[in-house]
Amino acid sequence: MRDKLNIVPFVSVDNMMRLVLHLGVDRVLTEIADYIEADFRRWPLFDKTPRVASHSDVGVIELMPTSDGEMYGFKYVNGHPKNMREGLQTVTAFGLLADVNTGYPILLTEMTILTALRTAAMSALAAKHLAPKGARTMAMIGNGAQAEFQALAFRAICGIDTVRLYDIDPAATEKCIRNLQGSGLRTVFCRSNEEAVEGAGIITTCTADKQYATILTDNLVGAGVHINAVGGDCPGKTELHRDILLRSSIFVEYPPQTRIEGEIQQLDADHPVTELWQVMTGQAAGRTDPRQITLFDSVGFAIEDFSALRYIHDRLKGTGFFEELDMIADPDDPRDLYGMLLRAKAGMTSAA
Ligand SMILES: NC(=O)c1ccc[n+]([C@@H]2O[C@H](COP(=O)([O-])OP(=O)(O)OC[C@H]3O[C@@H](n4cnc5c(N)ncnc54)[C@H](O)[C@@H]3O)[C@@H](O)[C@H]2O)c1
Repeated sequence: MRDKLNIVPFVSVDNMMRLVLHLGVDRVLTEIADYIEADFRRWPLFDKTPRVASHSDVGVIELMPTSDGEMYGFKYVNGHPKNMREGLQTVTAFGLLADVNTGYPILLTEMTILTALRTAAMSALAAKHLAPKGARTMAMIGNGAQAEFQALAFRAICGIDTVRLYDIDPAATEKCIRNLQGSGLRTVFCRSNEEAVEGAGIITTCTADKQYATILTDNLVGAGVHINAVGGDCPGKTELHRDILLRSSIFVEYPPQTRIEGEIQQLDADHPVTELWQVMTGQAAGRTDPRQITLFDSVGFAIEDFSALRYIHDRLKGTGFFEELDMIADPDDPRDLYGMLLRAKAGMTSAA
């Protein structure tokens, strides 16, 4: 058992796709949402810090660490809106889970696909607590890499049956409609955001632009709607007009991070917001009035990635969807690290 501790299971992109397809996308989205909810319910025991961001003119690279005292996890993630025009992903990620008792990693995995799954699961989980009862239609503004995952999570977790899609690039909307064929969702191609929000009880904004953008103006948001604002997640990068925020009940993941990165960076630093974990534990109210506008100001918090890592670690057991990485130097005599190097040299010389 001891010599296996230095071997770390690694989930490549290929294996992540195999695992997700083996389990089924709906099941993965629903179960990741369950893992996130379970972790949000024990929120106080986690280490929490706003993510560590390194900004450049074209994007951001971030580290997102947290621990529940037994396991430690972190994600490396970037956000480069201009990448898409160069044939690259806007968001890519990988992450690691470790045992707090030894400090040894227990999982290394791709997280580009996993981030899209966990972001969608988190959005739908928030909507399960906040969206108007009986909402069946969602407007989906921004039809890039995250979009289908969002649509599928809202179908699986919230019972959405219709998605009204809009993107400034019609090719993105066409791609989304093609990919959602056979999913059970009715898809509607829209030519403007005005058209997309018609009759929608839920509005998801998921665009990418490294600037203050106004994807939604105040006149587009009627009473009783739930807004799932995903794309505004960096200083200087927002999607909603400030007036919408002033009319909304705002729900966030971790206020110290959301005040830096979320839509609420447009508001005073003490503007009241509700923490979602408190809604989940019953300590704070969610939606209290059918005419209330609820807003999930999503930025993505480390605990959601921790939940997703924990989920993959659990579901990986008994499958062959990983490789074994010789990642941790672990000599038999722990103080003889240099001796291990010398023995390796001797081994190489005798083999030569
Ligand atoms: N909150 C979170 O947890 C979280 C997680 C992952 C990604 N994100 C953010 O979500 C956003 C989308 O990510 P992605 O990977 O899908 O990016 P992407 O580049 O693949 O897609 C973005 C889409 O938005 C469209 N778009 C840009 N401006 C628009 C506008 N004004 N109106 C309508 N459409 C517009 C683009 O044409 C593109 O199709 C990014 O900003 C990313 O940083 C947030």
